[in-house]
Amino acid sequence: MPRLKNEDGLADAYPKGNRVAARPVHATSSMQNDERCSFRVLVFGASLRADSLNVRLASLAQSIIESHGAEVDRASMADFDCPSYDGDVETSDGIPEGARRFRDRLLACDAFIIASPEYNGSMPGLLKNAIDWASRFRPQPFNAKQGFLLSASPSMVGGNRGLWALRVPLEHLGARLYPDMFSLAQAHTAFRDDGRLASEKLQERLDETLSCFLDLVEASKHYRQLRKQWVEFLGEHPDAATDRVEIATA
Ligand code: FNR
Repeated sequence: MPRLKNEDGLADAYPKGNRVAARPVHATSSMQNDERCSFRVLVFGASLRADSLNVRLASLAQSIIESHGAEVDRASMADFDCPSYDGDVETSDGIPEGARRFRDRLLACDAFIIASPEYNGSMPGLLKNAIDWASRFRPQPFNAKQGFLLSASPSMVGGNRGLWALRVPLEHLGARLYPDMFSLAQAHTAFRDDGRLASEKLQERLDETLSCFLDLVEASKHYRQLRKQWVEFLGEHPDAATDRVEIATA
């Protein structure tokens, strides 16, 4: 490609037409409903509590996603609840039903969204337990899945530390977690009766963040060349006899 000069007279490898302009966030939002290609997103709140703030936040995420024309598979944490992981039980009885459902529904979706409480600065044990069980399937169901994390808490930081903890096992398993997250502080007073956020500005922020995430899910679904290699035990000496490596495509 010929080297061109830009406005400052400096060498520029790319003609202007090939540059990607940064979009003003509010001006262009994302694609309109009728322009989106079809894809499916698994959504659930990781709490068993009837009045769960995270389940409410998951419901709000669901309505935003549906307004963009994407299909939602709405689950509850009860669907995926499992007895504590026990290697002996796995050997004698296999992987429990809750984890099987989690695996099946992950595989049937292009992306997942989890609204998770923060317990003692980390993720809830029942969620980690369900992830651990589901990770025992081969192919491993989190590999190359697009994911987005939300949290809600009465606290001032909205359970955000729990999401950073949750990123560790999910990223270890090869999920492509979206860099932005959304944490709802003082969540017990943050919702209107209709389920939207009392703060219009915060609502706009959530709409826009999820819209950007959906753009990425759509792009990844239609860019078939995007491959993902997952190596179960990082640092193991590469050896065909013992390697556990899975390649996934979008
Ligand atoms: C909490 N909670 C809490 N909140 C927080 O912001 N940071 C924390 O570290 C903790 N730790 C914690 C531990 C345990 C064992 C419980 C039961 C609770 C409060 C928690 O965020 C609050 O109960 C939420 O309402 C729980 O989420 P759901 O069930 O409303 O979705």
